Amino acid sequence: MCALPRTRKEIFETLVKGLQRLEYRGYDSAGIAVDGNSKTTTDINSNTICLIKKKGKVKALDEELYKKDSLDLDEELCTHFGLAHTRWATHGEPSAVNSHPHRSDKDNEFVVIHNGIITNYKELKEYLITKGYEFESETDTEVIPKLIKYVYDNRENDSITFSTLVERVIQQLEGAFALVFKSRHFPGEAVSTRRGSPLLIGVRSEHELSTEHIPILGKQHVTKCAYIKHPFINFTILLVDNIVCLSVLVSVFVRTNSAIIEHTNKVLYLEDDDIAVVLKGELSIHRINRQAGEDPVRAIQTLQMELQQIMKGNFDAFMQKEIFEQPDSVVNTMRGRICFETNTVILGGLKDHLKEIKRCRRLIMIGCGTSFHAAVATRQILEELTELPVMVELASDFLDRNTPVFRDDVCFFISQSGETADTLMALRYCKARGALTVGITNTVGSSICRETDCGVHINAGPEIGVASTKAYTSQFVALIMFGLMMSEDRLSLQKRRLEIISGLKALPELTKKVLSLDGKIKEIANELYQQKSLLVMGRGFNYATCLEGALKIKEITYMHSEGILAGELKHGPLALIDKHMPVIMIIMKDACYTKCQNALQQVTARAGRPIILCCQDDPEVTKNAYQTIELPQTVDCLQGILSVIPLQLLSFHLAVLRGYDVDCPRNLAKSVTVE
Ligand code: G6P
Repeated sequence: MCALPRTRKEIFETLVKGLQRLEYRGYDSAGIAVDGNSKTTTDINSNTICLIKKKGKVKALDEELYKKDSLDLDEELCTHFGLAHTRWATHGEPSAVNSHPHRSDKDNEFVVIHNGIITNYKELKEYLITKGYEFESETDTEVIPKLIKYVYDNRENDSITFSTLVERVIQQLEGAFALVFKSRHFPGEAVSTRRGSPLLIGVRSEHELSTEHIPILGKQHVTKCAYIKHPFINFTILLVDNIVCLSVLVSVFVRTNSAIIEHTNKVLYLEDDDIAVVLKGELSIHRINRQAGEDPVRAIQTLQMELQQIMKGNFDAFMQKEIFEQPDSVVNTMRGRICFETNTVILGGLKDHLKEIKRCRRLIMIGCGTSFHAAVATRQILEELTELPVMVELASDFLDRNTPVFRDDVCFFISQSGETADTLMALRYCKARGALTVGITNTVGSSICRETDCGVHINAGPEIGVASTKAYTSQFVALIMFGLMMSEDRLSLQKRRLEIISGLKALPELTKKVLSLDGKIKEIANELYQQKSLLVMGRGFNYATCLEGALKIKEITYMHSEGILAGELKHGPLALIDKHMPVIMIIMKDACYTKCQNALQQVTARAGRPIILCCQDDPEVTKNAYQTIELPQTVDCLQGILSVIPLQLLSFHLAVLRGYDVDCPRNLAKSVTVE
């Protein structure tokens, strides 16, 4: 456990390190608010707030912190609460002024960091402008610090508490938010709340915690609830999204556990409209309108994450590390769930709902980006094994269409982070219509996990690289396992099941073999990296591989790339083919083999230059190839797990050769928590 920071410099260092761990979630600008110099003020409590913000990566902010000559970095702060935030722009371009923390006024009376979106910000802004408030940014967030100052300036008495001010503010807000507030008027105190966006509180103590839960207090009891015995040597961390807050006694991080894991593995999850107050190392949580029958406590839970899991180790980038972790991550997805002796598959999180699922009208698989592709990849085998209609849906489009959903539908929400706003909205939409909801996520305790009726954790381990890799292959395996569990009692499917189960058993070894092709793939990348465009073509079980491969290439190399269903080639894409156009073709020995060969003929007849991903020992295909990547063969429905890996590696090498930061692709964020 790290020592508590005491000086302003140590506090900066801790905050910046926390931001760096969160940086993969957003990195176009960053900001910090800490207590100002006591020496430069007449007030011994140093209740001024120093706000430093910078466009660009966290590194740029870090450099900026030490440029302020006026700041006493060595000053020891006995009570302190600092906030830090790394931004992914939604409202307003990336710039220092648009980055967080946002402030109420030039004296920084109140500062706020926010994750989410305030949908009624225009009305609030107009109102506050009529009251004389001047806005400096283009963000929705800025209405919040202005509004709290307005409430404070119009308070009915001086004994009003910080949490009461926050309560009044959130009653006016619409949209989704996780918020942390700091104020000059309430030194050493932080107030945090959420609605729609997740917020975790990390708890650290050098002694055993004296309780395993925090009671929820009604409004009338908003006093202190000391749950840590010795406040002075304790350290509390609040955790929400891309926000880091820290105090000598108290620290707040927001949303992802990667920022706090080096401080504590004890966390509790706030519910919507909980208000958490951290004051002098003590935490209290209350609700504005506590209802009878509500859970009376928030339990302290233990995170199963190790610090080394979020370090790069010997790799140059998280993405690269995660690609090479796949022989292990696919095993972790299967661990304890498949018995290779008895050929049984049990997903503990679904077994109690199996009967209901088997009786359903249809399965609807919903996700965004890579998670959607995992649904496309497994649709065919799920149709085969479950003998049910399977719809695959992009969450945003599903909502745009107001898709009819029925009580006897079973809806799967596939999400690495478990926080993607579109997927979460779709979940709430399906829940409201009475469907059974199933989460397939990689993040224990995420919103999707908590709001679904049941689910499966894919257990791939933390994924930090913005371009998703190991989560895809683990989602793929988890969905296949679901199909196997559904078909256990179908006699006619037993042969097929056994073939797939033995394919899964061999998967880690075959994955290693594919990874050993890295050198060859790097050579191909060397030939391709100056190209503008790259098409990826295939069909059947490998159509999803094309979509996912093209997405990887787009995301991190900024080359134009399209995943094309080979069956559609003659209906348009063929017009793109000429001797200059690089085309990757996936031609595996499965039911689509002959049709894919036809597509290959059509490409070579137009002087296209096919780079072919095929099975080992396939002279028929390789003779027409410009380049080949030969893969070990597995069961048709699992082949996509192997064939996506060369495309993950190729996109990685292309991005490096093109000089881009693989883990921080421009304009993208790991998890998109706004609609
Ligand atoms: C973002 C990320 C993608 C990811 C998608 C869905 O767009 O950049 O890599 O696939 O969100 O994320 P989820 O966490 O729901 O799987």
